[in-house]
Amino acid sequence: MDLILFGPPGAGKGTQAKRLVELLGIPQISTGDLMRAEAKSGSELGRELQSYMSKGALAPDSLTIQVFKARLEQDDAKNGAIFDGFPRTIAQAEALEGLLAELGRKVDKVVVIEVPDSEIVGRITGRRSDPATGQVYHITYNPPPPGVEVVQRKDDTEEVVTNRLATYKAQTEPVLAYYDKKGVVVRVDGVGSLDEVTERIKAALGV
Ligand code: AP5
Repeated sequence: MDLILFGPPGAGKGTQAKRLVELLGIPQISTGDLMRAEAKSGSELGRELQSYMSKGALAPDSLTIQVFKARLEQDDAKNGAIFDGFPRTIAQAEALEGLLAELGRKVDKVVVIEVPDSEIVGRITGRRSDPATGQVYHITYNPPPPGVEVVQRKDDTEEVVTNRLATYKAQTEPVLAYYDKKGVVVRVDGVGSLDEVTERIKAALGV
């Protein structure tokens, strides 16, 4: 199965993708995670990507598709994947369609996790993660266990998340119309406990 998790920053795409990995037996491909890893490596490409992430702007399509394609070609994604944060533009959606078609595959479902704007800033500014495991927490809704050292993402400030949300509305939300025409979009309410949202996604996917 090839599945897109779609939604604004802080919708819970990454959190739910990690839960679906085991259930569906396919990997999560997060372009945000791939870009942060590249930035951490200190490469020239990483420095360029970081300059967009720091502002809450989208990285250029050409660089994004290059980073994504290299990950899609890895062996563990040969039977499908969960796309988290990709595609975010029509050009990326068209590129994904072409890459999957070469493999005899297509996007089977787009799950939109719907969360109101009023919820987003609190979720993002409270997010922390464990750099050793990649596990994502929230200081209130999903606190890290005692003794686990957590860090905050550089772009998780109130100012940058406001830009990320504006970027989502202007450039990414329109991508949904592309998939609506294909009849593959399902919408789930992203407000509720982590388990409740997982159950809604499973019901929407019929798994
Ligand atoms: P990216 O890393 O993709 O960030 P994002 O889309 O803004 O999404 P987030 O990771 O912030 O949120 P999420 O939906 O995964 O939420 P999470 O599960 O962590 O992208 C970062 C940057 O990279 C972009 O700004 C751009 O510059 C660049 N980029 C990436 N992809 C790109 C692309 N395709 N094209 C161009 N540029 C690209 O949850 C958030 C918090 O809420 C956590 O603390 C979690 O514990 C908590 N939470 C989750 N679910 C619930 C719940 N049900 N109730 C309460 N709290 C919850």
